This record gives sequence, C-alpha cells and structure tokens, in this order.
Amino acid sequence: INPNNYNDLIWLSKRIISIAGIKNDFPQIGIICGSGLNNLADRMEKPIIIPFDKLPGFPLPSVIGHKGNVIFGWLGGKYCICLQGRFHPYEHNMDMALCTMPVRLMAMMGVKTLIASNAAGGVNSDLNIGDLMILKDHIFMPGLIGFSPLVGLNDPRFGNRFVSMQNAYDQKLRQKAFVLAKNFGISIKEGVYLMNAGPHYETTAEVSLAAKLGADAVGMSTCHEVMVARQLGLRCFAFSLITNCSSLDLDNPMDISHSDVLEIGRKISEKASEWIAQLIDNLDND
Ligand code: ADE
Repeated sequence: INPNNYNDLIWLSKRIISIAGIKNDFPQIGIICGSGLNNLADRMEKPIIIPFDKLPGFPLPSVIGHKGNVIFGWLGGKYCICLQGRFHPYEHNMDMALCTMPVRLMAMMGVKTLIASNAAGGVNSDLNIGDLMILKDHIFMPGLIGFSPLVGLNDPRFGNRFVSMQNAYDQKLRQKAFVLAKNFGISIKEGVYLMNAGPHYETTAEVSLAAKLGADAVGMSTCHEVMVARQLGLRCFAFSLITNCSSLDLDNPMDISHSDVLEIGRKISEKASEWIAQLIDNLDND
C-alpha cells in the first residue's frame, strides 16, 4: 500500500469494510482516540473490532497505552469508526502520508466529521492537570519546516493542493462542546495546541518558546491528522487532556513521565468519553 496513492487507499477502504462485514451502515463520524478517550469504544453499541494487524498496510502502534484497533459501532445515535491508537510521526520515521492514512481511509468510507483527542502538557498557567482543553487552533511545528502531510501530494482527488487552515477546528462544534462540558461539570478550557515531533518532552526553554509563540499546550500528535482532514473537507473537533504542567522556570524543573501521562488519562477518560458521546448525539446529521 502506498499511502499517497488514491487507488491503493480506495482498495484498502473497501477491504476494511469487507473485513468488518458492513453492508448497509457507513460511518459518518471518525474518532481518533488518544489519551482521554480510552473508554469511548466501550460505549459503542454493536461494536465490530478489527486489530490493526488484520489490516494490510497498517503499521502496529509501538507506544505503550495505545491499543491498535479499528472499531465500527453506534455512538450517540450515529454510526462511527473509531481508531483506538494512532500513528505518531516519531514512530514512523516522520512518514506523514502513512501517519495520516487512517484519516483518508475514514473519508473514503463516508466520514464527514473528525473527532480527535490527545495528551498534552499545559504551557498556559491557567491550565491544571486533569483539565480538558478544546483546540481552537494549532501551531504545527513539523509542518512549518517541511513535514506537512500535503508535501509531495498532487492528486486533486484528495483535495486542493493549497489548503486553507482557517477555522480548522470548527467553531460551531467547539461552541457546542464547550457548553456541553460546562453542563457536565468538566473542567474545560479552550486554547492553542502546539505539536512538536517528539518523542522527547520539551526543555524549559522550549516550553518558554511555545508560550511566546502563543501556545497554551504542547503535544506530539493531531495537527497532521487535522490538516489532511481539512484537505478532504471534513469538519474537525479536537481536545487535549492536560496530563502535566510544563515549567517555565529554569530553576524549578518539573519532570514528566509517560506513566504519569497514562495514569491521568485513565482517570479522566470515563467522563470525557461520556461528553464526546453526548456531543455526537447533539450533532446535526450533515
Ligand atoms: N504529551 C503529554 N505531555 C506532553 C508534553 N509535556 N510535551 C509533549 N507531549 C506531551
């Protein structure tokens, strides 16, 4: 499978539908479950679970805590496809076409709305551990230096070559989600997410740089997926689970560990999953 080849992806999307045994229902909503949505798949009705290793062209996730399944099922009255685990560029040699392949496949299956979650470090001091932050915009560091998933792609069937990234995170969805979260008693904020390539966490000086650039939180995913989704015309919604707060003070370093990130994820996931199920229930049928 060449993830930049349209015909290869059409073939693969049909293959996935056939492996899942889907005849009538095609997914409308695509969900990428990062940290914070570990429990979402448990809420799906009539789930069809396909491990990545049953799918041609799918690399296996190497990050502890990421499962590696494609799941079809009903959530909030809509048929959804859920990716349990994602492809981080640092896992796959910065191969952006490969890392965004699931988004293109979802669109080919009929998905019109993408929902993604991630774990992030808070940069803005208003953010606390355990908060959820709705992405209102992003700064895609790898994309700015040439690692855009749109580089090298010149097939109009995927969308325009020059893609607008204005309103990348759909304003109406953000407003709806914000109100729902408040009603739900979730500690919710909105902010700008900065994606670094990782897999290292940032130095204190790098966190300061992110803050100066206008970022509220930093992480290692999501932006490449949203960029491809926007090229395909999907509306996007994403949120970060703040799993640690980065220090801006060189004399007061704050250490981060992946196990802490996973632990906070487990604690919040139940409530966040319920919130997202409600958001899907509240979405228009377009
Ligand atoms: N993911 C979770 N916390 C992070 C941090 N501080 N920096 C980058 N990615 C993260």
